[in-house]
Amino acid sequence: MNEELKMSNDFNYSAQARTNPVFQTAKTAVCLMARAGIPDADKILHCLKLDDNQPLKSMTDSDTILGNAIVVETKYRTMCSLIENSGYHTCVDLPCGCTPKALHLTEKGFRFIGMDLPIIVREFAPIINSIATHPNAITFCEVDATNYESLEQALRDIDEPICISTEGMLMYFSDDEVDAVISNIRRLLEIHGGCWITPDPEIKLQFMLTFHSVFGESSVRNLEKTGSTASKQSDVANLFNSFILNVENLSDSIKTAENLLRSHGLKVERINLAENLPELSVYRQLTSAQIKQFKDAMQQCHYWLMTLDESQNFQDNVTVQKNLPFEMKYTFENGVLQMTLRGRMDSISAPNILTTFEKEKLSDNIDEVKIDCSELEYISSAGIRVFFDIHKNCNKGLVLFNVNLSVTKILLNKGFTEFGVNKWKLSKNF
Ligand SMILES: C[S@@+](CC[C@H](N)C(=O)[O-])C[C@H]1O[C@@H](n2cnc3c(N)ncnc32)[C@H](O)[C@@H]1O
Repeated sequence: MNEELKMSNDFNYSAQARTNPVFQTAKTAVCLMARAGIPDADKILHCLKLDDNQPLKSMTDSDTILGNAIVVETKYRTMCSLIENSGYHTCVDLPCGCTPKALHLTEKGFRFIGMDLPIIVREFAPIINSIATHPNAITFCEVDATNYESLEQALRDIDEPICISTEGMLMYFSDDEVDAVISNIRRLLEIHGGCWITPDPEIKLQFMLTFHSVFGESSVRNLEKTGSTASKQSDVANLFNSFILNVENLSDSIKTAENLLRSHGLKVERINLAENLPELSVYRQLTSAQIKQFKDAMQQCHYWLMTLDESQNFQDNVTVQKNLPFEMKYTFENGVLQMTLRGRMDSISAPNILTTFEKEKLSDNIDEVKIDCSELEYISSAGIRVFFDIHKNCNKGLVLFNVNLSVTKILLNKGFTEFGVNKWKLSKNF
C-alpha cells in the first residue's frame, strides 16, 4: 500500500477504502496475473508493494489460486485481442484496475484511457506512467461508472470512436447500478461511436467451466471459496444482478440480460470464447490433458460485444436530465449533526460525507445525524455503506427525511423503514 497516499492531507485513504472496498479486487487480479505469467504484472506488483501476494492469502489451496489465475489470464488476453481486432484505436478501460493493459495496448499503437475509482487511479496512474514506454498515449481518470458526468468529463478531448472494455466490475453492482452503467455507456457510444466489450455476463459460467474442466467435478467447492473471497473483498453479498447470467438457468438469464440491453437501445453479439482464445502462459502449469479439456469447455462460454441498435427508434429520457452538482452542508448543535445533501451520493462523493462525520465526531460526541435528502437525486451502494457506518457510530442513529421517490426505492431494498411522514431510519437488525 502506498504510504504517501495514505498520509495525504487532501485524500482520506481510509474513508475511500471503507466506502469502496471493492477496489481490493483489482489488487487480487494483478497478483493472479503475475501468477499466470502475464508480462509486466510482476513489475506492477512490485511497485504496489505486493511482492508478498497478500491479497491471495485468503485463497488457501494451490488449485484455487491456479484456477483463478487461468480465468484471469483468459479474460485479460482475450479482451486485449478483441480490443486489438475491434477496428478502433482508442481503448476506454472501465474499470482499469491495476492491470498491464495500458502497457500492452500502447505498445501496439493504441491510445489508452484508464478509468477507475479515485482510490485506484491515485495509486496506479503514477506507477504505469513510470514504467510505460509510451506514457503520452495513456490517460487515467477518476470516475464512478454510475456517474455519467464523471465519464463524459473523462472523454471530453476524445474525438474518435472508442472501444470500451469492462472487465470484472458489473457483478459487484445492484440492479439499479448496473442499469445506470449501461445507460451511461450507451450515452458515450452515442456521442463517440464505437463498441463495448465485456466478459462479465458469463463470468460465473467461465469460472465453473474452468474449474470443472481442469480439476474435475469436486472442484466446485474451490469455486465457492473464490466467490466468498470476492464477496468479502467487495462487501457485496451475492455477486448477482440482471446482467450476470445464472448458471442454473442460462437460457432465461440470457434473455433477461439481452432485454436489459435492448431497453437501452443496445444490441449484442455473443463472441465464442474458444474461437478467440489466445495462447496462455498459464498452460505451462497444466498437463496437456487439462489444456485440451479447458479449451473444449470454453466453447460453451461467450464474451459480449455491444453496439448501438440503429434499427430501434430509441428515446432515452435520461439524456435530457442533468444531475445537480454534489453539495453537502451541515451544522452541529446539541449532539445533533444536521446535514443537507444535494446531487448524487456515490463512490466519488460518499467518502467526503464519511470524512465530515468522523471529523465532527472527533471534536464532539454525536448523538444523532439528521439528513435532509430533498435534493438528493441518487444513492449508490457506496452511499448506503456510508449511511450504515454513520448509523452504527452514533447513539440514536441516522434519520433521513424528505427522500424522493427514486431514492426511496433504493432505501427500501437496503433495510430502511419509514417511521413518520417521509422520515426514514435503518431497522435494528440491518
Ligand atoms: C476485479 S477489479 C477489475 C479490474 C480490472 N479490469 C481487471 O480486470 O483486473 C474491479 C474494479 O472495479 C472498480 N470499480 C468498482 N466500482 C466501481 C465504480 N462504481 N466505478 C468505477 N470503477 C469501479 C474497482 O475499483 C476495481 O478496480
